[in-house]
Amino acid sequence: MSVLFISPGYPDEMALFARALADTGTSVIGLGDQPWDALPGPVRSGLAHHVHVGRLDDEGAVLEAVRGLAAQVTIDRVECLWEPYLLLAARIREALGLPGMSVERTLPFRDKELMKRTLDAAGIRTPWHTATHTVAGVYEAAERIGFPLIVKPISGAGSADTHRVETREELDRAVDLVRHVTEVSVEEFIEAEEFTYDTVCAGREVLFENVCWYRPRPLVTMQNEWISPVTVALRDLDRPELAAGREMGRAVLAALGFEAGFTHMEWYRKADGEVVFGEIGARSPGGRTVDVMNYATDGDLFAGWAHAVVHGRLPQPLERRYNAASIFKRARGTGHITGVEGLSQLLDDHGEHVAAVELLPVGAPRRDWRQTLIGDGMIVVRHPDLETTLRIADRAASQVTLHAG
Ligand SMILES: Nc1ncnc2c1ncn2[C@@H]1O[C@H](COP(=O)(O)OP(=O)(O)O)[C@@H](O)[C@H]1O
Ligand SMILES: [Mg+2]
Repeated sequence: MSVLFISPGYPDEMALFARALADTGTSVIGLGDQPWDALPGPVRSGLAHHVHVGRLDDEGAVLEAVRGLAAQVTIDRVECLWEPYLLLAARIREALGLPGMSVERTLPFRDKELMKRTLDAAGIRTPWHTATHTVAGVYEAAERIGFPLIVKPISGAGSADTHRVETREELDRAVDLVRHVTEVSVEEFIEAEEFTYDTVCAGREVLFENVCWYRPRPLVTMQNEWISPVTVALRDLDRPELAAGREMGRAVLAALGFEAGFTHMEWYRKADGEVVFGEIGARSPGGRTVDVMNYATDGDLFAGWAHAVVHGRLPQPLERRYNAASIFKRARGTGHITGVEGLSQLLDDHGEHVAAVELLPVGAPRRDWRQTLIGDGMIVVRHPDLETTLRIADRAASQVTLHAG
């Protein structure tokens, strides 16, 4: 089989997916805006060929290049796990008459209003929502919804330009702040705990599922630099408080007709137990979550995904052995990393449960915490017992400090 893989070198984990695909014996053709030389070595050695285009967002030029290629070599599938180019992948499939997610099927994954309308029609509980291009439309929606509400871009990511609004003054400010966004979504604010529902599917069946618990909610971590975001992949998916969310997840996949590959959904669980849909992507979760799943299972979800799309099954069953938590650190101060405090004590006390420490080294420039969820580095802890995992994760969050100056 021959698979065209969009953007094998960026973002970083795409290299791992592309390599895993090649390791199934598939002939992988890369398509991206990076030249061959810029691709990571392990990817280069896995690619049968690489099509370097100037810009991936120049759809006409990309389609032309792909048509030229298809005249010379066989392409059986098109795969993409990077959000901005899921539609491009669908367009290429249609242009070449290939199976897989069509443009029509992909659109509801990219347009959050269409997504929620499709799910409303299937009887799935979404936050009350509307989409608008105008300032007047935002105020009208606010009249109907009342406070608190949320204003966010229709095709946003990483909580960018997302505002919780509680008063008329805050609404005025939010409207000002999202003026550059062409279309916004105005939603009822759901006060709740927030979880993910991630899957690897094939033939419309769920082959693997994962639930992560965000501590605290992403919106809160995006508004408070001092917080170290914690994401916990839960070991025991049969916990009663997850049942309704998992059931919703399966209903969402069925309603959207998802076929094969990775999915990443977010859902909310209110204090009264009601579950509400958040959003879904037809791709793997970002923020190193695939690695966290690997730490939870001692498995390889990059390979799992590759086998699912090529063979329709996982290479071996995955067992959830641990709760695995990623903790992202944001250094105190600006400039370059000057040191780390509290890490050796954490390792002394809990070293056997610390699965990874990938913090920026001293001297490295700080990353922009608003632009990247992974901040200035990650610690992963894992333990079969949830309470213990949370205790160690919270300690890594509150007592390990990176300093910058
Ligand atoms: N209707 C809502 N009620 C409560 N919180 C919300 C709502 N919509 C978004 N949020 C918060 O904002 C975050 C980002 O919104 P989301 O729709 O997931 O967009 P994205 O992650 O693509 O930026 C969510 O994780 C959640 O914390
Ligand atoms: Mg989100």
